[in-house]
Amino acid sequence: MSKPRLYSGMQPSADSLQIGNYIGALMQWRDLQETYDAYFSVVDLHALTQPNDPSELREKTRRTAAQYIAAGIEPSKSTLYVQSHVRAHAELAWILSTITGFGEASRMTQFKDKSQRYGADATNVGLFTYPVLMAADILLYQTDIVPVGDDQKQHVELTRDLAERFNARYGDAFRVPIPVIQQDTARIYDLQMPTAKMSKSAESDAGVLWLLDDPAASAKKIMRAVTDSEGSVRYDREAKPGVSNLLVIYAALTGRQIPAIEDEYAGRGYGDFKKGLAEVVVEEFGPVRQRALELLDDPAELDRVLAANAARADEVADATLADVYDKMGLLRRV
Ligand code: AMP
Ligand code: TRP
Repeated sequence: MSKPRLYSGMQPSADSLQIGNYIGALMQWRDLQETYDAYFSVVDLHALTQPNDPSELREKTRRTAAQYIAAGIEPSKSTLYVQSHVRAHAELAWILSTITGFGEASRMTQFKDKSQRYGADATNVGLFTYPVLMAADILLYQTDIVPVGDDQKQHVELTRDLAERFNARYGDAFRVPIPVIQQDTARIYDLQMPTAKMSKSAESDAGVLWLLDDPAASAKKIMRAVTDSEGSVRYDREAKPGVSNLLVIYAALTGRQIPAIEDEYAGRGYGDFKKGLAEVVVEEFGPVRQRALELLDDPAELDRVLAANAARADEVADATLADVYDKMGLLRRV
C-alpha cells in the first residue's frame, strides 16, 4: 500500500532559520518523512508578497533548502524542492482564485492583520491571494495531511473548502487535506520577550537563536535570556514565561520530560541551568550548522538536488493540473 501524502513548506524570509522553526517544524518533518510520502517546499513565490532584494531572495532560498537538508530532511526520501521550479503552482492558483469568494478571502485573519498594519496602499494583491496559492501548493499533490502552526490553520480550512467546492462543481479532482496543528509544547518564545513567539522577523536579535549562528553566540544569548527573580527552575508558563521557555527548548532538544529536567536542576541557580542548556544547544546545532555550511559551499550541487526533486514534483503536479483543466472545460492543446 502506498504511504499517505504530507505537504508543508516555509518561506525563505531570512538568511537563517531560528530554533522555533527547527523545533516547531523541521524536527517533526524529519520524523514524519518516515511514515509519509512527504513534500517539503521552499515557498519563494509566497515570499514575493514582501519586498525582497532579488539576489538576497535567491540566497535565502538556497539557505532555507540547505537548512532543511542539514536538519535531516533527506532529498532521496522526501520531495524537497523550490516552489517556483514547479510551474503548476502559479497555474492552479489562478484556477482556484476563480472559485474563491472575494468575501471569503477577505476574512483571512493573516491578511486582515497585515493590511491593517501596513495600510491598503502598501498591501499588494499577492498578499490577498496568498492563501489561494497555498491551497494550490497543497491540492496539486493530493495531500492527506498538512502539518502547520496554528496561524496557518485558517488557510488549510480554506484549502479544504476550495477542494470540496471544486469536486462538487466539476467532479473529483482533489483529495481533501487535514490540517495537523502544532502542539503548544513545540512553541518557542523570544528569549528577551518570552511572551512573544520567537520569529525570523523579531525586532531584536538578542532574543532569537539562529540555526546558523556561531555556537558561542548562541551560548551567550542563552546566558542572557530573561528569567525572573524566584531562582528556581520550575515550569509555570504564566508566572515564569522565561524559564518555562528554556525548559521547553531543553526538553525538545534532548527528548527528556520537563519534570526530569526540573529535578536535575533543583536547588541550583539559573546560571547552572542556562549553562546546561547552552551545551545542549551547541551540541544539537553545531553539526546542523556545519552540514548547512558545507552544502552552501557547493551551490551547484545543491541546485542539482533541488532540480531533481522539482522534476519529481512536476510529475504529480502536472497530472493534477491536466485533470483540473479538462474538468473545467479548457480546450486541450494537442
Ligand atoms: P515562519 O518562519 O513563521 O514562516 O514559520 C515556519 C514554520 O516554523 C511554521 O510551521 C511555524 O509553525 C514554525 N515556527 C515558526 N516560529 C516558531 C516558534 N517560535 N515556535 C515554534 N514553531 C515555530
Ligand atoms: N503559509 C505558510 C507559512 O507561512 C507556508 C506555506 C506555503 C505552506 N504553502 C504551504 C505550509 C503549504 C503548508 C502547506 O508558514
